[in-house]
Amino acid sequence: MEHYGEQTASGFLHVAPESKEPYAPDVLAKLAEDAAAIVARYPVKRSALLPMLHLVQSVDGYIAGRGVTFCADTLGLSEAEVSGVATFYTQYKRHPNGDYTVGVCTNTLCAIMGGDQIWDTVSEHLDLGHDETTTDGKITLERVECNAACDFAPVVMVNWEFYDNQTPESTVALVDDLRSGAPVKPTRGPNRQCTFKEMSRVLAGFPDGLADEGVGAGPASLIGLEVAHEHDWRAPRPQSAGELMAPEHETVTLKDERTIKTEVAAESLAQARVADTKAGE
Ligand code: FES
Repeated sequence: MEHYGEQTASGFLHVAPESKEPYAPDVLAKLAEDAAAIVARYPVKRSALLPMLHLVQSVDGYIAGRGVTFCADTLGLSEAEVSGVATFYTQYKRHPNGDYTVGVCTNTLCAIMGGDQIWDTVSEHLDLGHDETTTDGKITLERVECNAACDFAPVVMVNWEFYDNQTPESTVALVDDLRSGAPVKPTRGPNRQCTFKEMSRVLAGFPDGLADEGVGAGPASLIGLEVAHEHDWRAPRPQSAGELMAPEHETVTLKDERTIKTEVAAESLAQARVADTKAGE
């Protein structure tokens, strides 16, 4: 089933026939138990597809053919419908994934802050291109888009945990530690790095108890707030409820003849009408 390092672009969507091998009875029983807990969260069971895909990925390490079949059978969907969703989102892997997905942000800000150099160095060090996996099955390397952590650029993620302010050297050390099994701790977030399967189980909705560990917002995210405090800057005071609520009640009739009642501030309404009039001039 494993073919690390042999992926080709055309092979990425290929699900090997052996991935249809049935689950062992004990694995299937646990999957069914977990799936029942997931499905119970939704009024319509097909809505549970995304966490279900994470669940089967937490067992197989990717979306294997048998995982697709299990999701389809559990949720009353066709395998085509399940595959259509699984191939849409990049968090779902259609070929065996490494224990650690190392994502190098090469979006604009990280790129100019050194992300491109990190990518080039690590890609050469591991001899991997995008979405390829080391032959030991430890690391899958990805280019990733903005991780919403630009204040810590350049950023690298491992299974979507943050490694801030990286350099080519620090990232090479990071992947070497991950491959050797040395303890690795994200810059922010939990105190240990989880594996791809562990992370997938959390995304399926089964907490690992690590959510409250470590720093969430780091100093770079809070510096604007500190400057505001130093200068006693404040956001504009929101209008009070009394100012917002109008004495006047307006009834708005929609085209489909459903009627809704809405309370509209008379002054705001007048301002909007003036603005509309000006825009139309
Ligand atoms: S550009 Fe890299 S985190 Fe935003």
